[in-house]
Amino acid sequence: MTRTAGAPPIVEVRGLRAWYGPAQILFDIDLTLERGSVVALMGRNGAGKSTTFKAIMGLLGRVEGTIRFEGNDVRGRPAWHMARAGLGYVPEDRRIFTELTVMENLAVGRQPRRDDAPFWTPERVFELFPNLGRMRDRRGGEMSGGEQQMLTVARTLMGNPRAILLDEPSEGVAPVIVEQMASMILDLKREGLSVLLSEQDPGFAGAVSDRACILDRGQIRFDGTMQSLIASPDIGHAYLGL
Ligand SMILES: Nc1ncnc2c1ncn2[C@@H]1O[C@H](COP(=O)(O)OP(=O)(O)O)[C@@H](O)[C@H]1O
Ligand SMILES: [Mg+2]
Repeated sequence: MTRTAGAPPIVEVRGLRAWYGPAQILFDIDLTLERGSVVALMGRNGAGKSTTFKAIMGLLGRVEGTIRFEGNDVRGRPAWHMARAGLGYVPEDRRIFTELTVMENLAVGRQPRRDDAPFWTPERVFELFPNLGRMRDRRGGEMSGGEQQMLTVARTLMGNPRAILLDEPSEGVAPVIVEQMASMILDLKREGLSVLLSEQDPGFAGAVSDRACILDRGQIRFDGTMQSLIASPDIGHAYLGL
């Protein structure tokens, strides 16, 4: 893990509470993403993983508590501001442009080069996802779900983020794509990116993550290293249904 001495965590969430209309979904969430690390936010369907990401990304109406990005208080900032500040977001529903080609989808995501973040070009992205490189002129709508998932990640990288939120990268895609997603996350970590992913599969989370946080009904029930989670089968049993 690369850590700059004295630098604040890249993402730091304290006492986060969030609502959909009158319904409170998140209850005093604490979450830390250190620079250069990979953290898995785990928990059953409906636990609040996607809501946590949306809250961080500025996509929810009512949010309380503290959200810091690189030490700056960003709660209440809109999603475009977060993206411009260097936080990439890959939502769980793939949001590619079905009428645009792979190259055109990547062009949509392009942002200026920024200091302290890897600089991505389509060619560099294709090193990470060789199969996208073989379908540059294919329209998004003619790609498989897994390929669309990759294109969504690739387009987010074109914004040259310093950290990314990846919502369920392995969900609903073929095993071969799951493997590529895992190796892609490890490649991004090697590049120095920080990754917060949500994941239900402990095998996938264990293969790529330094730490795990477990959400259950909108509350954090576990926060520790992957090894300590593996060493605590009752936690997996209680909150992940293992
Ligand atoms: N747009 C919405 N409006 C109202 N309730 C929602 C909405 N999206 C999610 N929820 C509720 O919020 C809770 C957490 O959902 P979510 O964050 O999507 O969980 P996860 O990503 O862990 O599966 C669930 O009870 C879900 O039904
Ligand atoms: Mg979700």
